[in-house]
Amino acid sequence: MTNPVQLPTERDPRCPFDPPAELRRIQAEQPATPLAFPDGHVGWLVTSHAAARTVLTDPRFSTRPDLKHPVFAAAPRPSGMHEPAAPGWFVHMDPPEHTRYRRLLTGQFTVRRIKALEPRIAEITRQRLKAMATMDPPVDLVREFALPIPSLVICELLGVPYDDHEFFQRQTTMMASVENTQDEFMAAFGALAGYLGELVVHKRSQPGDDLLSGLIAQGGLSDEELTNIAVILLIAGHETTANMIALGTFALLRHGWTPAALADDAAVEELLRHLSIVHLGVPSRVAIEDVDLEGVLVHKGETVVISLPAVNRDPEFFHEPDALILDRPDARRHLAFGGGVHQCLGQQLARVELRIACRALLEMFPTLRIRVPSEQIRLREKTAAYGVWELPVTWDAQR
Ligand code: HEM
Repeated sequence: MTNPVQLPTERDPRCPFDPPAELRRIQAEQPATPLAFPDGHVGWLVTSHAAARTVLTDPRFSTRPDLKHPVFAAAPRPSGMHEPAAPGWFVHMDPPEHTRYRRLLTGQFTVRRIKALEPRIAEITRQRLKAMATMDPPVDLVREFALPIPSLVICELLGVPYDDHEFFQRQTTMMASVENTQDEFMAAFGALAGYLGELVVHKRSQPGDDLLSGLIAQGGLSDEELTNIAVILLIAGHETTANMIALGTFALLRHGWTPAALADDAAVEELLRHLSIVHLGVPSRVAIEDVDLEGVLVHKGETVVISLPAVNRDPEFFHEPDALILDRPDARRHLAFGGGVHQCLGQQLARVELRIACRALLEMFPTLRIRVPSEQIRLREKTAAYGVWELPVTWDAQR
């Protein structure tokens, strides 16, 4: 066995959209490479698209943390490192346990329901753009646009008051960091679960026209299950999309693309592939039997982590993988949303938000540009979702 590698995180600030150079070097060698986990365990880092598809879809790989599945801090773990998943924490369950929750939730995330949300997403986007237009540039696009849009949308969808966004965004940022300790994670999780638990109790007596009330009405879920589901959706629903809108805009501006280039849905798929913002420690699985993974023997009990930025740039799978080609015909075959039974529940919502937000922004501010040299932009290298901490932008005032 070759020496285990550390998970590469450091990006080159001159090309912040590309995976770390070290990752590409590892990828060139084999489909899966021995990886050192923070707890000393050695598992595998998967960098080939074919091997990633197997890990995501083969039932011999499990997400259960109680199977001694070491995780990076990026993977939330309210039940502790090696305990069974807490009730409702379906991201750490296998079928058939996972299937029960997933069925209840899929009913709330149908393409039809998301389509019906489109006018509201467009309205929220317009409001944010109008507010931005009254400001004196430069403004921070993350704060004024990329974060509020998915945050407002998920709040409306779930029935969470947006006025509390500073509180819950602080907790979700802490939970998504790979540098937090278990205690820090649990403190942030406890605060968020306490807040959402109260909301669940309130909605039982005073239901609204929202997803949490809908789940309560479907019946069969305890308050603890509903609270944990709400925590998952609140974290997953805005951290990821916010980073994708900000980094996507950064990439589009850097390449000089216009709104017309975003007319086709393929452009959104290509942005998702090219940027692959879920970049650290997720998805991860544990082998429950020995598995031959594209010629690499993974033993029962070993953990595999998939590097989505690597697999979505796999030269054996994508032609010219490093180029951003907005009409790339096979962009949709990316794995930016994972795959198999745990494939992203909110992917349709994320696609709609991205399409509407990026296009409307470039239409309303045709002269939008980054205010500082790219190298000065702080990158989110140590959070589960990659992106930028701030994006100072400016534009020419309209006469
Ligand atoms: C799962 C990416 C937006 C909810 C996942 C996974 C990925 C992902 C890679 C698979 C994790 C694994 O297999 O272990 C993204 C990206 C997004 C995004 C790149 C935005 C650009 C959203 C949104 C929501 C959401 C908006 C919710 C409203 C979820 C949930 C899961 C998930 C609940 C877990 C599904 C399960 O375990 O069955 N996402 N996501 N995501 N995502 Fe997303």
